Amino acid sequence: MSTNAWNDLLIHQKSLLHVKIADLFAGNSERFSQFSLQANGILYDYSKQRITVEGLAKLIQLADEARLQEHISALFSGKVVNFSEQRPALHSVLRDPTPTPFPINGHDIKHEIHISLKRLEQCVERIRSGEWLGATGSKITDIISLGIGGSDLGPSMVCQALNAYKTTNLNIHFISNVDGLSLATVLNALDPITTLCIINSKTFTTPETLQNAKTVKAWLQQSLGSKGCAHLIGVTAHPNSAQEFGIVADNIFEFWDFIGGRYSVWSSVGLPIALLIGMQNFKDFLAGAHEMDRHFHNAPFLENMPVLMALLGIWNINFWDCHTLAIIPYADGLKQFPDYLQQLEMESNGKKAAEKTGFVEHHTAPVIWGGVGCNGQHAYMQLLHQGTQIIPVDFLMATEAYPGFEAQHTLLVASCLSQSKALMEGNGHGIQSDPLNDAKRCLGDRPSSTLLYPKLTPFVLGSLIALYEHKVFAQGVIWGINSFDQWGVELGKKWVKKIYPYLEDRAPAVDMDSSTAGLIQYFQRHQTKNY
Ligand code: F6P
Repeated sequence: MSTNAWNDLLIHQKSLLHVKIADLFAGNSERFSQFSLQANGILYDYSKQRITVEGLAKLIQLADEARLQEHISALFSGKVVNFSEQRPALHSVLRDPTPTPFPINGHDIKHEIHISLKRLEQCVERIRSGEWLGATGSKITDIISLGIGGSDLGPSMVCQALNAYKTTNLNIHFISNVDGLSLATVLNALDPITTLCIINSKTFTTPETLQNAKTVKAWLQQSLGSKGCAHLIGVTAHPNSAQEFGIVADNIFEFWDFIGGRYSVWSSVGLPIALLIGMQNFKDFLAGAHEMDRHFHNAPFLENMPVLMALLGIWNINFWDCHTLAIIPYADGLKQFPDYLQQLEMESNGKKAAEKTGFVEHHTAPVIWGGVGCNGQHAYMQLLHQGTQIIPVDFLMATEAYPGFEAQHTLLVASCLSQSKALMEGNGHGIQSDPLNDAKRCLGDRPSSTLLYPKLTPFVLGSLIALYEHKVFAQGVIWGINSFDQWGVELGKKWVKKIYPYLEDRAPAVDMDSSTAGLIQYFQRHQTKNY
């Protein structure tokens, strides 16, 4: 990229080569207030990033040169932002409670979305109240949710994060992978007569989900005969495929092609969430995301949390060669949050193809990884403090303690703040007289941001997810790529179709490279049928 702002930032980066982040704090007691922001009850402290007023101004100029504001308006007005599939991306409409019509191709899709939400609510109330009885008249006790990628990560992560808001005796079991042991463990523990199965698949073609769905359907029919299908619920953008599978129309919840899988937790894909925490809490979850939508749509860039996060990410990736980003929530409830963001960020922006044609010459999405603190301090933080790579970190943490466990929370907070301070400052020159001084040296100068929120409520979690969704969108715009398609995952699916028959029929793997052929042959010789 060779825009004016990009070139200015390259020059600015060189001017900072010998300036440490800690130096930026020296003599400036206002740095925290200068480089932190509050929105939706969330505090975003980015003062430990390698950022200056001048650098921020140049990053904002980069956003302006990319016409980011126009793209944001296009996103929220339903324009085609997914060029290769010629679709808008309307996940923000899923959580917009206002009655204002939202016409797409002559349809008011806002009205359709609100009708769909009402249907979802009726289903949730019927199951949670015990009104929905199984085929033999028994109350439902367990829900199996089948799905993978965006059809699993959202519901699974949110159910874990909001388990404190569980207001039902229903047990919800998530199965995403085609790992027979996982599915067998769940099925062996449940009674088909009191179990419903949600089949979550936007395309209703994903092999993993369909394989598991066939197995669960047979398991239900083994006990319930032809009535087994009454225990199936489908959530998909292809209701005809769901009906052909055997799901009755009344049990199918449709969502739309203009909702990307990794942006679908706000739709009927969120059914397990609503079953767990109830519809009002689910609506609060939507409301938190809607508030972040309004903030992203309206706040000037210098006070716009997703935009600032996006620009600081670009600063670290494209100008300081940091190609991974660690997401470290100091909250066990957010244990799956890094996994969720892996799909959101890496499937959205893990691309080299330019939005319309050709390839970009700059880096794009970082590798997203992470885990909960304090545990990371006893696992991978060593590398972040003394390793050869600079790895920026997003720390996330609640300010409120779980009642009665204030001592734990104080230690959790002290630990998180200590990590970001140690990453930024290091330990100076250490102890020169110590012969092990080099081994003990932490060079510091590692950037991080800290997000603080009062408590992990449905509203806050909705805001946090939307914050990252819009950060990803803003980065995609500036990088000049399409954040809403995912052609890269199709190639693997193509090879599955070719390799699967060799394994199933134990036929010799012809026209395969010698590694794949050798592995297939080894598998064929070493398939053990009995555990
Ligand atoms: O990974 C590819 C992908 O298409 C994701 O985008 C999607 O969330 C996942 O597979 C599951 O797809 P589906 O919901 O159609 O089963």
